[in-house]
Amino acid sequence: RAAMQGDVLAKERRDMRQAEVQEKAAKEAAKTDLNQEWNDPMVAPGQRRFASDLKQIGNGPTAEVPEWKKIATGRGELGKRTNMSIKDQRESLPAYKMRKQFLEAVHQYQLLIVVGDTGSGKTTQLTQYLAEDGFANAGVIGCTQPRRVAAMSVAARVADEVGCRVGEEVGYTIRFEDKTSHSTRIKYMTDGIMQREILLDPELNRYSVIMLDEAHERTIATDVLFGLLKKTLKRRPDMKLIVTSATLDADKFSSYFNSCPILTIPGRTYPVEIMYSREPESDYLDAALTTVMQIHLTEPPGDILLFLTGKEEIDTSAEILYERMKALGPAVPELMILPIYGALPSEIASRIFEPAPEGTRKVVIATNIAETSITIDGIYFVVDPGFVKQTAYDAKLGMDRLQVTPISQAQAKQRAGRAGRTGPGKCFRLYTESAFQSEMLPTTIPEIQRQNLANTILMLKAMGINDLLGFDFMDPPPTNTMLTALEELYALSALDEEGLLTRLGRRMADFPMEPSLAKSLIMSIELGCSDEMLSIVAMISAVQTVFHRPKDKQQQADAKKAKFHDAAGDHLTLLNVYQGWKLAGKTDPWCFENFIQPKSMRRAEDVRKQLIQILERHKLRILSCGRDTTRVRQALCSGFFRNSARKDPTEGYKTLVESTPVYLHPSSSLFGKQAEHVIYHSLVETTREYMHNVSVIEPKWLVEAAPTFFRVAGEKGGLSERKKRERIEPLFNRFVGEDEWRLSSQRR
Ligand code: CDP
Ligand code: MG
Repeated sequence: RAAMQGDVLAKERRDMRQAEVQEKAAKEAAKTDLNQEWNDPMVAPGQRRFASDLKQIGNGPTAEVPEWKKIATGRGELGKRTNMSIKDQRESLPAYKMRKQFLEAVHQYQLLIVVGDTGSGKTTQLTQYLAEDGFANAGVIGCTQPRRVAAMSVAARVADEVGCRVGEEVGYTIRFEDKTSHSTRIKYMTDGIMQREILLDPELNRYSVIMLDEAHERTIATDVLFGLLKKTLKRRPDMKLIVTSATLDADKFSSYFNSCPILTIPGRTYPVEIMYSREPESDYLDAALTTVMQIHLTEPPGDILLFLTGKEEIDTSAEILYERMKALGPAVPELMILPIYGALPSEIASRIFEPAPEGTRKVVIATNIAETSITIDGIYFVVDPGFVKQTAYDAKLGMDRLQVTPISQAQAKQRAGRAGRTGPGKCFRLYTESAFQSEMLPTTIPEIQRQNLANTILMLKAMGINDLLGFDFMDPPPTNTMLTALEELYALSALDEEGLLTRLGRRMADFPMEPSLAKSLIMSIELGCSDEMLSIVAMISAVQTVFHRPKDKQQQADAKKAKFHDAAGDHLTLLNVYQGWKLAGKTDPWCFENFIQPKSMRRAEDVRKQLIQILERHKLRILSCGRDTTRVRQALCSGFFRNSARKDPTEGYKTLVESTPVYLHPSSSLFGKQAEHVIYHSLVETTREYMHNVSVIEPKWLVEAAPTFFRVAGEKGGLSERKKRERIEPLFNRFVGEDEWRLSSQRR
């Protein structure tokens, strides 16, 4: 017994020593990290040039055109990489110098943090090093990405380097799209997919290594995976976890991950000159486009990267820029305009990686996807208006909302850094230096602290994790956010009074979509309209829109679309499109004729098939309601009762929950109609708060759908029966207090 005790003590001492060594290593690494932190290389005050000054020069058709076509290209390393063999390209990346240390560290430690600048080869190389070293023999090497586009484009690149097709040795999985096979050894996937896989197999037995990539993005899914994978590691001593990131609070990460070692890939960046606007810009879009043209006309060769906030803004700007360039006439060197955003089809996205032909310049207009997830070579100029579109929980609306907000200082630095990868670059910040200093947060707030958590909590509950306050979050979400989510799930009947998962809730968790949509789909089975609901859910989940509305044929397109319009609203309009397409044999000519995007329809069909598989797994029936589509709207109410609004006597609508003004978009099939009560799928904010996908409902359906959430108001007061029925008021506040109890009672 004494000997055993001795053993234990010796082991403890060993562990302690090891912990000490690791801590020391972590501290050292943290130190070097700080040294490497990238500084704004500012020119002395007085000598600075300002982005806004530059705009005075060379704007308009009379602009002087520099003959930079004649200036030799090949500035810095521009264009060099693309002439190299794949092997040389791989070996030229900063990660290559660390290959040996990296593999040694992976063998020695179960958990490792790797920090390196964007473009140093973390995503594309580390997985290959692991495979080359034999880790692929023991299981799949999984690598998570916060963004779908990144997962797809990176898999394509690595497949190229490995010399296979995507889906063979190298593949990817994103929601509703699985490009992997038995032979896949390196698998890229979104962090959301990894979350689903861990729900099905908490030990992740298929995998030998998991790489949580782009951890600095701090998406909710990645943050939750931090906690879940820490647990998995304990159960799987043979599994390795690598957490990689571009800009990382190394100390914070290391202490969260049991003081694990940090491997730093030395950067290879050039100085970037930063220029600010002298005055705040009143129109950042216009300022951005003027700056881009300015750079094109007056600066030496080198591509431009412009950060904008979203698809619509990017497409519009690309068009304006194109028109303005055309107005300058043929004397001006060509400017290739390349948009990139999350929803862009992969073929177009790959064009942005190709170098611009000799004598031309390219401008990539991107969302913050190009901040860290995607690296484009040859960028010398960055134009940064300082905004990003991100989802944030809006307590007033009781839901997440996409909002354009200022970026953080960390994001601004990251954006500027994109100009210094191939040679010394320039970054034009379209905001003042004092705005940078005083109005921008130092770092971005992690998603988990600003977004709706209903989905996440449903998933955790489905994994049997009930003690949410005790969950090992790196940055715990605010208690209030958790309460709101619990309350929401309770109103959806996914949780019971005790806060425990109901059978319905467990089922909902199996559908890869927001809880409201999952609930509507499940309820449609009871209501006998699952066939119709499947089509609607597929159309909503698969694509942003199936309607094609080219700028030069808007009226024609609108007229065709109006033929599908259903008096009951947009959901049934979508159904009409799907059924029209099906009836016509799902052909492309039908799509072109009707201004419908054939690719979107095929994608919707694909999603529909996958949803059918889930229904079949649950032995749920697929039933059609024929013409009785009222039931479809009732089923929608069961999930989206919160998103209900009533016509305002003066203008637009007011939400039932908080009386926030919301509006019908001119593209809605209900626009111009006098629908009294509606529900909507989501809100999109442009100039005002627009409801997206709207359907007419009867208010009593709300009470039927969510009796704990709504009640018929005013028993007294002499209202007519009809008026009474229509006065529905939310009850939800009543439950918040109880939820608090519910949360704390689980701790006990
Ligand atoms: O992950 P990290 O930011 O460290 O770098 P990476 O994504 O592995 O990129 C390494 C190199 O591969 C960069 O020079 C990229 O330009 C290139 N790459 C590419 O050509 N095509 C892609 N789809 C992704 C990366
Ligand atoms: Mg990467």
